[in-house]
Amino acid sequence: MPSAIGEPLDRVDGRAKVTGGAVYSAENNLPGMTYAVMVTSTIAKGRVASIDSAAARRAPGIIAVLTHESKLKLAKSPDDISPDSAADRRLQLLQNDRVLYAGQPVAVVVAETLEAAQEGARLAQVRYGPETPSVSVDASLAGAFIPERLSGAGDPGRSSRGDVQAGMSQASTRLEQVYTTPFQVHNPMEPHATVAVWDGPDGLTLYDATQGIFGARKRVAGLLGLAVENVRVLSPYVGGGFGSKGPTWSHVLLCAMAAREVRRPVKLVLARPQMFGPIGCRSETRQSIAIGAKPDGTLTALKNDVVTHTSSFDDFVEPASTPTRKLYSVPNNSTTQRVVRSDIGTPSYMRAPGEAPGTFALEVAMDELAYALTMDPLALRLKNYAEQDEDGQKPWSAKSLRECYRMGAERFGWAKRSPEPGSMRDGHTLIGWGLGTAMYPARRSPASARARLNRDGSIQVEAGTQEIGGGTYTTMTQIAADGIGVEPSRVIFRLGDTQFPPTPVSGGSMTTASTGSAVYLAARALRDTIIQRAVVDRNSLLYGAKPAQIAFENGRLSRSDRPGQMETIQHFAAGLGEPYIEAIVNAAPGQEKEEFSPMSFGAQFAEVRVDADLGQVFVSRMVGAFGAGRIINAKTARSNFMGGMVWGVSFALYEHAVYDERLGRIVNNNLAEYHVPVNADIGDIDVIWVDEADHHVDPIGAKGIGEIGITGSAAAVANAVFHATGKRVRDLPITLDKLL
Ligand code: MOS
Repeated sequence: MPSAIGEPLDRVDGRAKVTGGAVYSAENNLPGMTYAVMVTSTIAKGRVASIDSAAARRAPGIIAVLTHESKLKLAKSPDDISPDSAADRRLQLLQNDRVLYAGQPVAVVVAETLEAAQEGARLAQVRYGPETPSVSVDASLAGAFIPERLSGAGDPGRSSRGDVQAGMSQASTRLEQVYTTPFQVHNPMEPHATVAVWDGPDGLTLYDATQGIFGARKRVAGLLGLAVENVRVLSPYVGGGFGSKGPTWSHVLLCAMAAREVRRPVKLVLARPQMFGPIGCRSETRQSIAIGAKPDGTLTALKNDVVTHTSSFDDFVEPASTPTRKLYSVPNNSTTQRVVRSDIGTPSYMRAPGEAPGTFALEVAMDELAYALTMDPLALRLKNYAEQDEDGQKPWSAKSLRECYRMGAERFGWAKRSPEPGSMRDGHTLIGWGLGTAMYPARRSPASARARLNRDGSIQVEAGTQEIGGGTYTTMTQIAADGIGVEPSRVIFRLGDTQFPPTPVSGGSMTTASTGSAVYLAARALRDTIIQRAVVDRNSLLYGAKPAQIAFENGRLSRSDRPGQMETIQHFAAGLGEPYIEAIVNAAPGQEKEEFSPMSFGAQFAEVRVDADLGQVFVSRMVGAFGAGRIINAKTARSNFMGGMVWGVSFALYEHAVYDERLGRIVNNNLAEYHVPVNADIGDIDVIWVDEADHHVDPIGAKGIGEIGITGSAAAVANAVFHATGKRVRDLPITLDKLL
């Protein structure tokens, strides 16, 4: 049978999504529903001196105004986080009068309608005792520290091999530059939203827009003193998360606490400005890169000293040094990561945390080095190609980067590039071509799944997991269909409910490798059970065959030695004595990670057209070529890679959460002023991939593709801008004032 895996199957949930049949968290409307609105702090540091809620309480429809004076009880401190959970954050749950960042929740108003709650929030008079906040790297640099662990993979805060100083002295060409990337804020289309419903004092159901239902359940149960099995989290559809919906943030708990207080269901949806502060952001990064090479381009030394922010009360370290540690073969290499404490909401995972800003700095530095050596930027990369992970001192699980460079360059037409900056003019338009390398680790976590054949012949497969836009319903359907031996149309895949088998967070690009493996193994186990039962069933035409003689394809079981003897899965199911048979599998990675360095790679090519007078940049064309393991669905994969590349354009040219350094507030906390590209800002995007199956990562050979698309792409754009204009901008975003 032609494998369902790899096919460009339409999204199985596509119709539901475009017709409104897919119900997102905020769309759950329950009997007796009430509406909560958070009042968030307008200062970045200090105390709440007083909250006068009398006027708010008198307003029509108000049910409760909750503040720190309400003394809402928790089972433990919201600062008490488990060290083994990468996603636990210290939360602000109205437990005291401290203000730690602008946008922190300081009160919650609950009302009969959303409008009443908004009016109540407006009427609540909060007076502050402000202190002077610090939100800039410069102001806090003296107090910077090197953390033991970076967030994400948990690499140490510094790394070194060889002797960078000695390596630099062997170099004929040396370069030292500082590259900066700004604060960025996740802006999924769907704001964070929670609906909380209590069933007595001990049972809680949450409809939550989350990337991790099981993480949310654990965090909520822990803080509210409930048994995890008494908390159910439902999240069948998520309108984008990009990391911001990975951790469980304060509003989720506040919603549940409010619902307990008012004894009715509560819906709490963040307003867009509230997305800027209390739900994570990408820290600014300052990366000081030193690089040395011999005349033929061979790297002799490479170093990156990174500074990022965390909050005053919690630790998150954007692991931007990773690419410098791993991407190139270089005997002398060192990195450090320093962190400054700032009066901001805790930064968090944002699509390709670490690699997104890290590949920007490194890949622009490599471009600069190529010009200094008068060498083709692609040839310089190939000259220093890392045949193994020199940082981890392990072979790569699979690496197709050479092929990505070759395919991408060919598709893009790189060979026709004229190397001189400004040499590819089209009348009044400067044209530039640039290149950047993409990389992202291939992660896998334990996951489980259930596959069931019902007596009516239908097949239902379930795993907790989440659909955050990547196409999980569809890819899991394909994997399950392949594993069993039926057409995808026969499989119903369900997700987004903590009553389904446990799975990890939809983050770190690991859903396909983790949950996909569990789904595949559960499907195989169901297939094996069906075959074993068929060969001992006296009513079956397959009776007496050996299991190994049975082929299972297109929903039909047949004997390979007697092709006429077959039966359909429908017929087999109808003969079942019980309502269904099922297989449940708990899958987990083995020792592969000890032996191999699991990584995906890619090559990004960008063409920009720059107005010679106005400095306006348009990315007219991009080619991304990726080697990211087995591709499960050609259509959803293409979208996912493309989304990452679009974000690379945004990273290079638009996004910047601007802090007012005196007030410690983000001034452009809305989608009108926090720029992200619209369709008109995006040119042709061409996505290709290498046929790669990486069985050192998981049984299906998939590595995950959610994040790699954003890596290397900002560098490709920035390098293209230099090629067009001769102006090297090392401080993102590249706005036109920096080009004039
Ligand atoms: Mo991703 S930033 O791990 O959702």
